[in-house]
Amino acid sequence: MSAPKPTPFKNPRAAHGFLGRTCSIVSVGAYVPARILTNAELERMVNTSDEWITSRTGIRQRRMAADDEFTSDLASKAALLALERAQVKPEQIDLIIVATITPDMPFPSTACLVQRKIGARRAAAFDIEAACSGFIYGLEIGQQFITSRTYDTVLVIGAEKLSSIIDWSDRNTCVLFGDGAGAAILQNRPDSHGLLTACMGADGSKADLLSMPAGGSRCPASAQSVANRLHFLRMDGKETFKNAVNAMYQAARESLRRCELDIKQIKCIIPHQANQRIINAVSERLGADPSQLFVNLDRYGNTSAASVAIALDEAVTQGRIVRGDLVLLVVFGAGLTWAAAVIEW
Ligand SMILES: CC(C)(COP(=O)(O)OP(=O)(O)OC[C@H]1O[C@@H](n2cnc3c(N)ncnc32)[C@H](O)[C@@H]1OP(=O)(O)O)[C@@H](O)C(=O)NCCC(=O)NCCS
Repeated sequence: MSAPKPTPFKNPRAAHGFLGRTCSIVSVGAYVPARILTNAELERMVNTSDEWITSRTGIRQRRMAADDEFTSDLASKAALLALERAQVKPEQIDLIIVATITPDMPFPSTACLVQRKIGARRAAAFDIEAACSGFIYGLEIGQQFITSRTYDTVLVIGAEKLSSIIDWSDRNTCVLFGDGAGAAILQNRPDSHGLLTACMGADGSKADLLSMPAGGSRCPASAQSVANRLHFLRMDGKETFKNAVNAMYQAARESLRRCELDIKQIKCIIPHQANQRIINAVSERLGADPSQLFVNLDRYGNTSAASVAIALDEAVTQGRIVRGDLVLLVVFGAGLTWAAAVIEW
């Protein structure tokens, strides 16, 4: 066996005996609905202003799914594009993981509905719920199946129809979110280290900061729960903001440490697209240059599990990331949850 080629980073998984088979993102795809909701339209819906929204968040517009367009539809469209780009047939997929907080329905899983829609008849399928951190959680779960040689092809999707759980009379939240989906095909690429590490974390003691209180076993749907508007997303914005900056910074720093990388060696940083001020604060603490950041939240707002997946797709299609580049993904969400991943593209 020939000696591994020298790299400017350490592969932390090598210490676990995984060096034999790596896991790469071999293609990405994304889909956002056609309908654009601008800040000007929101000005007519709630007591807000374009000036407030852009200066406090950086968001200018977001996409809204049609009434007959569901999370599984957005997810399937993103997945089909990723499959086409990788020249992988739906029947080749071994496993589908959908990360979402807005499944089409509580069960069956949206992953099973995607399986049917794209014709991936051989695939196992399940959803994961890690809110905005779901896409990186999904990549890390999918990675296990590839490196362990259990499966050859895993489809990971982050997809949301957040417009279905937004209280359109609450200016604190309705200006922030949007709909969309992003997908990634995971396979082994022998010439790449691929997903070098993913640092994931959670803090359930802060679960109440961001939640949808009703619709589960604790508070099933009732006339009362609807009247009390409990089927909508609720958030303590200020506390969420503080926790996001801290957790994203710590996760990013830990993932870089594991790979023995300096932030300057990262070609492209793709942060969760929730708020430009959160991105700026994390970037400053990491000592990153603004030119390293990929930001598209001005056009899509916060699309939760789809956020970094859509941004990754755009960064790749725009040529901001090419083979061999080092990429840092870093996310934060309800749970609380957070994660950062380093990828040799
Ligand atoms: C929501 C967020 C933008 C609010 O920004 P902020 O600087 O913290 O603003 P505050 O909460 O201090 O609110 C300031 C004022 O603006 C008001 N305000 C809130 N939303 C508004 C809106 N859309 N338009 C106008 N005013 C608004 C508030 O009511 C408050 O008014 P008050 O002082 O009279 O009570 C910010 O906290 C945030 O981005 N938090 C994290 C959200 C997030 O990323 N969540 C998802 C995590 S995955």
